[in-house]
Amino acid sequence: MNEKQLVGEKAVEYVKDGMIVGLGTGSTVYYTILKLGKLVQEGLQIKGIPTSVQTAMLAKELNIPLVELKDVEHIDVAIDGADEVDGQAALIKGGGGALLREKIIARASKMFVVVADAKKNVQTLGAFSLPVEVVPFGFEMTARHIAKLGCEPVLRLNPAGEAFISDNGNYILDCPFPEINRPAELERALNMIPGVVENGLFVDMADVVITVDEHQQVKVTT
Ligand code: A5P
Repeated sequence: MNEKQLVGEKAVEYVKDGMIVGLGTGSTVYYTILKLGKLVQEGLQIKGIPTSVQTAMLAKELNIPLVELKDVEHIDVAIDGADEVDGQAALIKGGGGALLREKIIARASKMFVVVADAKKNVQTLGAFSLPVEVVPFGFEMTARHIAKLGCEPVLRLNPAGEAFISDNGNYILDCPFPEINRPAELERALNMIPGVVENGLFVDMADVVITVDEHQQVKVTT
C-alpha cells in the first residue's frame, strides 16, 4: 500500500455514524473518500460536504450523500490533505487550487484531520510555493502588493496555458516565499491586501495529523 493510501484510509477512523463530514481535495484524501464510499455501501450513515467540484463528483460516483453548508449547523469532522506540514502542524494547502473552500470547511468543523505522506513534513514552511487566491480584477496590482511581503508571485496556468480558474471564479498566485518563519503573521498580512480572497496557510487549525514515520509506520499526532 502506498503512503497516501495508508494515511488516507487511516483517517476514516474519525468518522462515525450520523456525522457530517467535510471531504477534502487531492490525491491523498482521495483514498479516504474511496474508503468512505465502501463504508457507506456497507451501511455507514454520513453526509459529506465537498471542498471542490472535483471531490463532489467523486463522492457522487461513490454514492456518498452530500449536503450543503447552508443546511448544517456545523461539520463534525473534515479530512483533507496538505502540501506541507511543519512541526507545529501549520500547513500550506492549495496545490490543487481548492484552498478557499477547504479553509471555510476546516473552520466550520469540530475536528480537522490532515492526511499527509512523509514528504509533506518540513521543519519550516516555504519550499512549496504558497497558493494565494485573488480576484481577477487588478490581479497584477495585487501581485505587486504580495511581492512586497518577500516573494515573486506567479500566476497559475492551466494545461492549455491560460489562467487557472478556481471553483470560485478566481485566479491563483503561487508565491515562493523562501522561508515562512511566522506563518500566522503572513497569513494575516496576505489577507489584508485588497484583491486577496484567501491564502493557503492554515495555522492552528489541524487537530490531528496523520502521516508516516521513517519506518513507514502510520503516525498520528494530536
Ligand atoms: C487542494 O487544493 C490542496 O489543498 C490539497 O489538499 C493539497 O494540495 C494536497 O494534495 P495531495 O494530497 O494531492 O498532495
